[in-house]
Amino acid sequence: MHDTLEVKLCRPDPSDGFEVHRLVESSPPLDPNSVYCNLLQCSHFDGTSICAKQGDQLVGFVSGYIIPARPDTLFIWQVVVAERGRGQGLAGRMLDALLGRPECGKVDYIETTITPSNTASRALFKKFAATHGAEPSITKGFDRKLHFQDHHESEELWRIGPFPNT
Ligand SMILES: CC(C)(COP(=O)(O)OP(=O)(O)OC[C@H]1O[C@@H](n2cnc3c(N)ncnc32)[C@H](O)[C@@H]1OP(=O)(O)O)[C@@H](O)C(=O)NCCC(=O)NCCS
Repeated sequence: MHDTLEVKLCRPDPSDGFEVHRLVESSPPLDPNSVYCNLLQCSHFDGTSICAKQGDQLVGFVSGYIIPARPDTLFIWQVVVAERGRGQGLAGRMLDALLGRPECGKVDYIETTITPSNTASRALFKKFAATHGAEPSITKGFDRKLHFQDHHESEELWRIGPFPNT
């Protein structure tokens, strides 16, 4: 049983990039990206990414961006919660907070890709869809052979929405 975390949600800035890298790196099965990539997420994509902090400590992060050719769709790149913060609805809260941002005012859909074996991620997005009254549509995303040359499990594409505009 984990203690309930008192967390604040905030926009990332570049000073968060290295800790994001550490958190992702210590959270399998996520693919760790380069620190440089995390710095870009925390600067260029700060409006569509979110940190959860307990005091000064990063305990959660979501990276996302608006798909350039489809401004009604927020793509969620990675979601991570530190082990000690899991099972308390934190990932769901971060997604909800992102959807409420002014940058997401025109967003009607969320897309993400999930490997079939990632039970926690599937449960998270299923719950998120149900909370927002939407059924996820699940189609082929990136294929193990075609796109990963057998070096990575296939990624299914989840599309959730439309969300009511409030
Ligand atoms: C996936 C992850 C972000 C979920 O974070 P979390 O804060 O524990 O998720 P929440 O508490 O918001 O849970 C949302 C729903 O998913 C369910 N869920 C979460 N983890 C689960 C698990 N391991 N197994 C089954 N269901 C799970 C919760 O029970 C909840 O549904 P419910 O309210 O109907 O019970 C976290 O487990 C994690 O960081 N995992 C490692 C990285 C990863 O796989 N990220 C996702 C891919 S991008």
